[in-house]
Amino acid sequence: MSGDALFQQHVDEVSRTFDSALARSRHDGVLIAAGSAHGYFLDDQHAVFHPNPHFRHWVPAAASENCFLYYAPGRPPVLFYHQPRDYWHLPPAAPQGDWTSAFDIQIFAEDEQLPDLIRAHMGERVAYIGEAPELAGNLGIESRNPETLLDFLHYHRARKTPYECECIRAATRKAVRGHLAARDTFRAGHSEFEIHQAYLGASRQREAELPYPNIVALNEHASALHYQHYDHAPPSAMRSFLLDAGGCHRGYAADITRTYSAQADEFADMIAALDTEQQALIAEIPRFKTYPELHHAMHLRIANILKRFDLVDMEPEAMVEQNVTFAFLPHGLGHLLGIQTHDVGGHLASENGGTRPPPAAYPALRLTRELEPGLVFTIEPGLYFIPMLLEALRESANAPHLNWARIETFTRFGGIRIEDNVLITDSGVENFTRDAFAAAESP
Ligand code: GLY
Ligand code: MN
Ligand code: MN
Repeated sequence: MSGDALFQQHVDEVSRTFDSALARSRHDGVLIAAGSAHGYFLDDQHAVFHPNPHFRHWVPAAASENCFLYYAPGRPPVLFYHQPRDYWHLPPAAPQGDWTSAFDIQIFAEDEQLPDLIRAHMGERVAYIGEAPELAGNLGIESRNPETLLDFLHYHRARKTPYECECIRAATRKAVRGHLAARDTFRAGHSEFEIHQAYLGASRQREAELPYPNIVALNEHASALHYQHYDHAPPSAMRSFLLDAGGCHRGYAADITRTYSAQADEFADMIAALDTEQQALIAEIPRFKTYPELHHAMHLRIANILKRFDLVDMEPEAMVEQNVTFAFLPHGLGHLLGIQTHDVGGHLASENGGTRPPPAAYPALRLTRELEPGLVFTIEPGLYFIPMLLEALRESANAPHLNWARIETFTRFGGIRIEDNVLITDSGVENFTRDAFAAAESP
């Protein structure tokens, strides 16, 4: 299918979802504000702008600050596109590309023009989705971010259209180019900062374009789950490297982690073991009904690794039940992925709202939904040596079952995370990440 046909199919599907959402919440139209960059306190500088994800769901335009979308069932969506007259910055070009034919595009330069422009299209019972509801007030819109509407939209946004999957595949290809360059830069003995720069260069993304800040962790730094610094000097001994770094294409994210050992040592064997278990779990996805079951199954696999590597001498089931594995894998197995790196709706019980809370034993689990075709999510098991959590384990009744001397030898490596992005299809599972690595590495 050509790019514009694929995009039109996406807009048609999003339109159908909005038609149902608006009918249920008793609105006859919706105004979606893209938003504007947040300013710092007592400063004239701004944070990187991320548009309202509901706006992004419809509009792939690179420039979207201060833009609006109005949709009423049965009519083409209207894009109010802000093209300010500005000599401090380069004003955005008029919208162009395969996606523009899906919209009625109204260009405006001055904010003052906007209310009248919007009023000319607006229905009676309109909902507003966005920050800064002053404009909604000016337009007489009472219904601002109504929960029934948002719950329905969030629930359905988890299922991706073929266009969205194409965007995530493209984001993945970018990220994989960065990952391969970063791996080589690590192997050449460079610092976290230099590895980060190599990633940006090879993935051809500036820092502000990343879906989330790169996690570039050498040695013990890999034990901080969201390690946030980039040391400028390489460590005196290079042992391990964890890279959690993504890509973005038309506002859709890839979220990928790989871990390497500097030597062919036991830590390398442990990475290979986790890789094998992660792949085996992904192959089993069609057999599971819900994501928490997958998460639990992964804990059993982690327990098996801990036993095999002679780190814990307990039966795997007991290790999981008594929270021993939690100390080595304290985060959730994964999350929905899409416009947001941690896409919304992971805890929604149904399109009518309600919550499926994470199991008490796994409070950090971001995804509790039933597994169904169209969902895109991450599978990102980890096995870490986190001093704070190991100390707690040392104080616990299970301390005698742990081989502390061996754990000590692994602590210098920080930890492992292996993160792939997968799509449930009608016939099985597509692994965007493995496919992109295989394509990039094939001769
Ligand atoms: N990069 C953040 C995460 O993996 O969830
Ligand atoms: Mn992730
Ligand atoms: Mn990640």
